[in-house]
Amino acid sequence: MQFSNLCLNNVNRLFEAMVGIDQVLEKLSTVIDPDLKKDIVSMGMIKDLELNDGNLKFTLELTTPACPFNVEIEDDVRKVIGEITDLKNFDLKVTAKVMEGRSLDADTGMASVKNIIGVASGKGGVGKSTVSLNLALALSESGAKVGLLDADIYGPSIPLMLGMKDGFMEVEDNKLQPADSHGLKVVSFGFFADQSNQAAIYRGPIISGILKQFLVDTNWSDLDYLIVDLPPGTGDIPLTLAQTIPITGILVVTTPQDVASNVAVKAVSMFEKLNVPIIGVVENMSHFICPNCDEKHYIFGDGGAKKISEQFNMPFLGEIPLNSGIMAGSDLGKPIMITNPDSPSADAFRKSAKNIAAQCSILAAKLQDEMTSESSNEESMPEASTS
Ligand SMILES: Nc1ncnc2c1ncn2[C@@H]1O[C@H](COP(=O)(O)OP(=O)(O)OP(=O)(O)O)[C@@H](O)[C@H]1O
Ligand SMILES: [Mg+2]
Repeated sequence: MQFSNLCLNNVNRLFEAMVGIDQVLEKLSTVIDPDLKKDIVSMGMIKDLELNDGNLKFTLELTTPACPFNVEIEDDVRKVIGEITDLKNFDLKVTAKVMEGRSLDADTGMASVKNIIGVASGKGGVGKSTVSLNLALALSESGAKVGLLDADIYGPSIPLMLGMKDGFMEVEDNKLQPADSHGLKVVSFGFFADQSNQAAIYRGPIISGILKQFLVDTNWSDLDYLIVDLPPGTGDIPLTLAQTIPITGILVVTTPQDVASNVAVKAVSMFEKLNVPIIGVVENMSHFICPNCDEKHYIFGDGGAKKISEQFNMPFLGEIPLNSGIMAGSDLGKPIMITNPDSPSADAFRKSAKNIAAQCSILAAKLQDEMTSESSNEESMPEASTS
C-alpha cells in the first residue's frame, strides 16, 4: 500500500512536471524569429530542456551566430519565461548552429560545407574581392567557420589582399589543403604562382576544370559558410559555379555607378535563369562619411542598389562606404576588419554580414520546408503495383 502511494506521488509529480513543460513550451512558442517568421519552438531552437522542482534549464540554439536579432530573441525568451510564476531558477544557454542552406544530399563532394555564397557583379572593379574578404572576416568574427574561395582564376587578388603573396597550398591524400589566414580557410589560384601567370591564356573547359577542383578536391573540413569571390560578369566561372554544385545563393555587389549603367542587372538575370537563388545586393562605395562631421554624402547618387533590389524583388543587405582605409587595407594586405575593427567601415561589413547570414537561414528554412513536403508527398504516394 505504502509502495503504491509512493508510485502515485511520483506519477503526480511527473504529471505536474509535464504540465510545467507544456506551459514553458507554450510560452516559448509565442517568441517569433523575426527573419524566419516562425516560432522558435517549431523551428527546433529549444534544446536540452529540463524542468525539475521549478528549476528550468534549456539551450536556445540560434540558426547562425551572426543572427541580427540574437539579442532580441534572447530578450523575448527571458521575458516570456519571466511571466511563468512558480519558477525558482532559470538557466539559459545561447548557442548557434548554422542551418544547411543547400542540399547536401545532392552534393556528396562538399557535404561538409553548409552554405556556399557566390559573390558576383555585372562589371569589374566594383569591390567584389574587398567585400568578399571583409564579409568572410565579419562572419568568422561572429563565431562561424568560414572559407574563402578566390574563384577569379584570371586575376586572383585575395592573396594580395591578405598579405599572402608567397602563400601556397599543400596537397595531402589528393586533396588541396587550404591556407589559413585570420581564421579563414583560403584557396586561390594566386597560390600557384607559376600557373597563375598563364591563366590569361586558359579557356572554357580548363577554367571550369580548375574551379571544379577547387570546389570538390579541397579539404574544406566543416564550414558554415564558403564565400566564393567570382570574376566580374557572366562568363565560364560564374556559370560553372551555378551548374556544378547546389549553392545557397548569389550575393550581388554593385556600386551606385554600376546600377546607373545597368550592368548589375545582367548578372542577376543570368543567375535567375539558372534558378540560383539571389541572396540579395550590397552596395559598395555607396557613400562617403565626412571625417569632420560624420555626415554621409552620397557622392554618386542615393538609393541605386535599393532600386534594383526592388526591381528584382531581392533583399537589400547593406551599404559599404567609400573609404581610403578600405582601399589601403586591400592594397597592403591588411583588411580593415582586422586593422580597424571599430571603424564605421568595419561596422558596415558586420551589419551586411549579419543580414547575409539571416538570408541564408531564410533560404535554409525554405529548403527544409520543400524537402519535408517532398518526403511527405512521397510517403502518401500509393505503392507501385507489382502485378
Ligand atoms: N569601399 C571601398 N572604398 C574604397 N576603395 C575600395 C572600396 N572597395 C574596394 N575598393 C578598392 O577598389 C579597387 C577594386 O576593388 P576589388 O579588387 O575588390 O574589386 P573587384 O570587383 O573584385 O575587381 P575585379 O572585377 O577586378 O575582380 C581596389 O583598389 C580596392 O581597394
Ligand atoms: Mg576581384
